[in-house]
Amino acid sequence: MTFHNKNIVIDFEPISRRIYYSDNETIYHALTKSGIRVNSLCGGKGTCGKCKLLIQKGLNLFNDYTKPELEKLSKNEVKKGWRLACQAILDLRKVEQMTDPQALHVRIFLPDDLLIEDFKILTTGVDKGIQLIPNVLKLRVHPDKPSLSKPIPDFERILSSLPLDQLKPSKDIVIDYNVLKNLPDLIRTQEDELTFTILNQKHIIDCEPGNTSEKNFGIAFDIGTTTIVGYLMNLNDGKIYAVSSLLNPQTAYGEDVITRITYIRDNEDGLNQLNTAVINALNTIINKTCKKARIEPSNIYEISIVGNSVMHHIFLGINPTFIGLSPYVPAIQRNLNVKAKNLGLSISTEGNVHILPLIAGFVGADTIGVILSSQIENESDLTLAIDIGTNGEIVIGNKDILATASCAAGSALEGAHIQHGMRAAAGAIDTIKIDPKDLTVDYSTINQKKPLGICGSGLIDAVAELLKARVLTRSGNFNKELIENDRIINTGKAVEFIIADKDETSTGKHITISQHDIRELQMAKGAFYSGMRLILSYLDRTRNFHHEIQQIYLAGAFGNYINKANAKFIGMIPDITDNKIFQIGNAAGMGAQHCLINKNLRQKAQDLLRKIEYIEIAVEKDFQQEFAKAMYFPHFNLDYFPSLQEYKYIPKR
Ligand code: FES
Repeated sequence: MTFHNKNIVIDFEPISRRIYYSDNETIYHALTKSGIRVNSLCGGKGTCGKCKLLIQKGLNLFNDYTKPELEKLSKNEVKKGWRLACQAILDLRKVEQMTDPQALHVRIFLPDDLLIEDFKILTTGVDKGIQLIPNVLKLRVHPDKPSLSKPIPDFERILSSLPLDQLKPSKDIVIDYNVLKNLPDLIRTQEDELTFTILNQKHIIDCEPGNTSEKNFGIAFDIGTTTIVGYLMNLNDGKIYAVSSLLNPQTAYGEDVITRITYIRDNEDGLNQLNTAVINALNTIINKTCKKARIEPSNIYEISIVGNSVMHHIFLGINPTFIGLSPYVPAIQRNLNVKAKNLGLSISTEGNVHILPLIAGFVGADTIGVILSSQIENESDLTLAIDIGTNGEIVIGNKDILATASCAAGSALEGAHIQHGMRAAAGAIDTIKIDPKDLTVDYSTINQKKPLGICGSGLIDAVAELLKARVLTRSGNFNKELIENDRIINTGKAVEFIIADKDETSTGKHITISQHDIRELQMAKGAFYSGMRLILSYLDRTRNFHHEIQQIYLAGAFGNYINKANAKFIGMIPDITDNKIFQIGNAAGMGAQHCLINKNLRQKAQDLLRKIEYIEIAVEKDFQQEFAKAMYFPHFNLDYFPSLQEYKYIPKR
């Protein structure tokens, strides 16, 4: 029994790996054959129950649930479409009945604990040096003893023992009710020394026996659409003690913010499911980082959060549906402080969660984080910052101006919708060189593993090198004069260029770049470049602000790994000298860290809202035209890229 007549595509998320299903085999075998190692104790016999995955699209094409699945999966899991990889197999009869090719597109979510390989998540950024002004103080107190001659109540005696120069006036100091309840006993059993935890210089939120002043921690979170990173920081010295990250478990409900909004809109319990998923993920990261730093979660007193507007709403349990509908407004813009226990976060009982403000429906607190940490608003040079993640955000600014927009860059640069695309993980081809004389390819892979697919930086390199070798034309088509070369194959459906021969790969199949992949990259890079031009022309028109970009910051996981010169060569970013292009790492996460250790920056983030101008570029009248021109390599108008002399020799069509 074979599937040769049908072309079945399976996309595995959140690792963005696509396979073409051709044999009568279980999903477990399809995964392992493709080099994706998964957890299993029973080797695929259906007895360990370790290989659970969620079939998000195409469940109707699979065999009926087997006995081991009905034993290992709960009723609720079965209802939602969870299966055991070693039991799930495509059913030929059901496949043959399908006439719509779209119906043969399967999407499967692989939960974090199923995958053995670590996926590379950027946890670092460039620190511009921030003053330590934490919102949480831990102060040691040696309280006076009460006496008949001085019958001063416990709380008032504590107040007189606190170093008031570090606090608000004593009349403003309040004690949490739960702390007060324990105070009389604690003060009498631990007479010598107590440590008080004080929030915002006035609110006593904890009291511990002895000296625990060194255990003063906070955690900063960057809640991305695809990944969540947590940075455990000591609030006494501002240093990072542990970092942990997870793929965002909400990916099980939708690849991007729009599909998650749709899920919430269409499912009565959808918001609760997605909110629970993110809160559980944050609690997992809290526990992991505490273990690494050898502290208790109760030693964490504050959390700071950045994330895009939809992640922000779901985290807070606020319906994000209206962000997805014109005029795309969020429920709130300003920053927020919420008790951790009200959100279900397991830190100190009275711990505080600070959520940075949003800019607009599609430009969130993560962009505020990028602005804060890059300090773009202090630059003299007009600076372009692009945050490349599952969504694309653009900031243009300097000391005079600050403008932002979001662009529909899609997730091709994270490997999605690319035939052999994958995220930056072991086995991903991440750099590529092509000899223009004979088209031989030199590439590297992450962790030097056998090639498994191509990640975003590899994709940019591949296209830039193919252009330099004149295999591609400026409009992104394969150059017909070269179509005879062995590396260029015609599969009958599309023209493809072989990056890694099947003998070299872990899948036993060629890893190629197809015409379709090139179109996906053109759309992504076109979205960034045209977005930038539209912001500039908006500022020019409305403010008479006529300047060109002088400096570029590439932020985000992907921005850190790309070859800057090649990003410029394909026309993703403007033509400025390489030494004015900076890769600034996870700048959004860095912004959350800065706000955690310096409370004054929270006010600054709030104040920045007055300076930031949000531009809805999709309604700009030249939007379609600018986007179409920016689809060319490097651009329809070569005058924008005067330094790229090679383009003189590259055909236009
Ligand atoms: S691998 Fe053990 S149940 Fe599937």
